[in-house]
Amino acid sequence: MTQRWALLATSAFVTLMVWLGGCGPAEPPQFPLNTEGRKAGAIGPAQREAILGTLGRLYGSPDEPRVPEGVDLDPARLRAAAGPVRPDGDGRVVGLYRRHCAQCHGIGGDGAGPAALLLNPYPRDFRQGIFKYTRTASGAKPVRDDLEEILRFGVTGTAMPSFARLEDQDRANLIEYVKYLSVRGETELFLLQLIVDEDEYLPLSMSIVMEDGVIPLADLWEQSAEFVVVPPSPPPVATEEQWLASVELGRVLYQNDDARCVECHGPEGRGDGEEEEIYDDWNKPKAGLTAAQTRALAERFTLPIQRLRPRDFTTGILRTGDRPDRLYWLTHVGIQGTPMPAAGPQPGVFGPLKPDEIWHVVHYIRHLAGQGKP
Ligand code: HEC
Ligand code: HEC
Repeated sequence: MTQRWALLATSAFVTLMVWLGGCGPAEPPQFPLNTEGRKAGAIGPAQREAILGTLGRLYGSPDEPRVPEGVDLDPARLRAAAGPVRPDGDGRVVGLYRRHCAQCHGIGGDGAGPAALLLNPYPRDFRQGIFKYTRTASGAKPVRDDLEEILRFGVTGTAMPSFARLEDQDRANLIEYVKYLSVRGETELFLLQLIVDEDEYLPLSMSIVMEDGVIPLADLWEQSAEFVVVPPSPPPVATEEQWLASVELGRVLYQNDDARCVECHGPEGRGDGEEEEIYDDWNKPKAGLTAAQTRALAERFTLPIQRLRPRDFTTGILRTGDRPDRLYWLTHVGIQGTPMPAAGPQPGVFGPLKPDEIWHVVHYIRHLAGQGKP
């Protein structure tokens, strides 16, 4: 009897270890190669080796992250976020990314963790370096405050939870790790283009990889602060009269043809505009011209195709929650990785709405969402 229990306990333990460790305790997990959109077998063994080898030298592994020379990422923060979940000796738990994020965002940040298939929208694939919720113009990277807000508030109406209960330094470590996965992922795309698409002669020169790939990609994160949009002060809406006047002005601006909001969000903001077949940048490459093409393309991607819907403001559930400044920013700079355009001025472009006008539109959207005065 005791023997049988011991056997059962051992097999349960082994199952648990294999599950926790992915490949079992002996084999540390590796970053999977990004094969999205490519035919099976399109990447030759030598090319595969060159890409993964180069990435390993530059960025290390999920258990032992490395920071390439000249890239501004804090190795201590990365170590706290990376690796298996474990105590760090000071009474803290580290391995934060695998503890809190990997089940959705995947160990390599591909947005295809075990839970991803069930979710709509899918968790972000960090490897393209595209983020939706920024306060930065012209497709610039998010600033750290943008990512901090995402972690603090989550994304309402999606599976992305709030991590407000974590300590500030844990969130800071995780943000550093998201940047790391993103720069690593964009370096990988750069290598795929060079080695597979352009069939570059191997071995690659490391100085080309650094000067044309890693450094400019990492610099984009450093430069994003220059693109921050500062909203003007909102118009006064202290009295009910002022509020309704602003909402009405917002409605007129929203329905103006130049602004184009109606095309997607519909005349009354119900998300029923004429624009029908829309996808985000992660799903668009999965859409063929015919249904048969789309089915054939499906084999090349990890997750099935997912349509994108323009927001129906009247459901009252906004991704931005109840935060008027976020609503301002999304309207001003647009939503990267989606067809939602920028309505405010961008460097070198006027845009259909002036900053003051955007506030009225924000008030109209809040009114539609039943949120009322900020
Ligand atoms: C239960 C699943 C789930 C977990 C756990 C999760 N996320 Fe997410 N995350 C999502 C989904 C879904 C989205 C996409 C939301 C959208 O597109 O609006 C997302 C989006 C994001 C974004 C992108 C925001 C942008 O501007 O594009 C970041 C950054 C992010 N998550 C970081 C994290 C981090 C860091 C953790 C762990 C601390 C984490 N997430 C845990 C599901 C999850
Ligand atoms: C080409 C289509 C398109 C046009 C034009 C467009 N939008 Fe959008 N909009 C979208 C899509 C799609 C989403 C949802 C994106 C997502 O879920 O990632 C969205 C989302 C939004 C959100 C996010 C709300 C939230 O917090 O959940 C706001 C605000 C918004 N749009 C305002 C506007 C305004 C104002 C205009 C006109 C100035 C406009 N949009 C024009 C497609 C469009």
